[in-house]
Amino acid sequence: MERVSIDGVEHDPGDPRSAIPVSDHGITVGDGVFETLQIVDGAAFALSRHLDRLRRSARVVDLGPLPEPDTIRKWVGEILRNGPQTGRLRLTVTAGDGPLSSARGEGPVRTILATSGLPARRAESNLHIVPWTRNERGALVGAKTTSYAENVVALAAAARTGADEALLLNNRGEICEGTGSNVFVVLDGRIHTPPLSSGCLAGITRELVGELVTVEETTLTPADLDRAEEVFITSSTRDVQPVASVDDRLYPGRKGAVTAAVFHRFSELKANRPDP
Ligand SMILES: Cc1ncc(COP(=O)(O)O)c(C=O)c1O
Repeated sequence: MERVSIDGVEHDPGDPRSAIPVSDHGITVGDGVFETLQIVDGAAFALSRHLDRLRRSARVVDLGPLPEPDTIRKWVGEILRNGPQTGRLRLTVTAGDGPLSSARGEGPVRTILATSGLPARRAESNLHIVPWTRNERGALVGAKTTSYAENVVALAAAARTGADEALLLNNRGEICEGTGSNVFVVLDGRIHTPPLSSGCLAGITRELVGELVTVEETTLTPADLDRAEEVFITSSTRDVQPVASVDDRLYPGRKGAVTAAVFHRFSELKANRPDP
């Protein structure tokens, strides 16, 4: 971790005063929402869209009131000033202090910003379909909450098979998303992605890709993966990443022409528009 601020006050990450109290409901029960942004040329890419989604997530879990977007923008500006040119910015808002149980306390919310480097980007990703499902009717659907232990378990299971991302189906057996990514499947030259009703997160990168190229929202199943020409995944830290395999299904990966075109369009957007 490189830099940390809590409610706008910057701390040395190694300083015990930067510690979050054990009574923070984000720590005790994962009661919080978050965003992960990519730092591009020293700025938080697509900050406006991330701030909008943060508010939507907070509404789903009835968390708040949040600091005003302009206040968070100011804190983001401060933590990135003279900071890294590239990397990851994590913006977390927890419910603040609360009891050691599921009942929520009085708050106020706690806003935590932290920067770190990005892991070396792999040119291609290999996916593993895990046995656990996303609940498309769950209370947290649509929200990016800090309750991410299911993703931790799924990603670890994928890693044990040699994959670097887990692919989750939903309770209906439809393709949903990765632990930290949205999935796109090329069928007959056309790009498809699961609709939000699959239970997947409304990824910012997913949204931007949908504005750059024609993407159809289609209910997809593993049978579609059997006949797919190309597969790629998207996220704020992976951007557009070609998929080389989903378990024993093999794809062209970075040699896929459709994926390469989307990758190119997205790279151009990133280079030219800091807050699309
Ligand atoms: C569960 C999940 N789905 C999809 C995504 C991709 O979203 P974005 O493009 O906004 O990073 C993420 C991001 O981490 C995620 O956690």
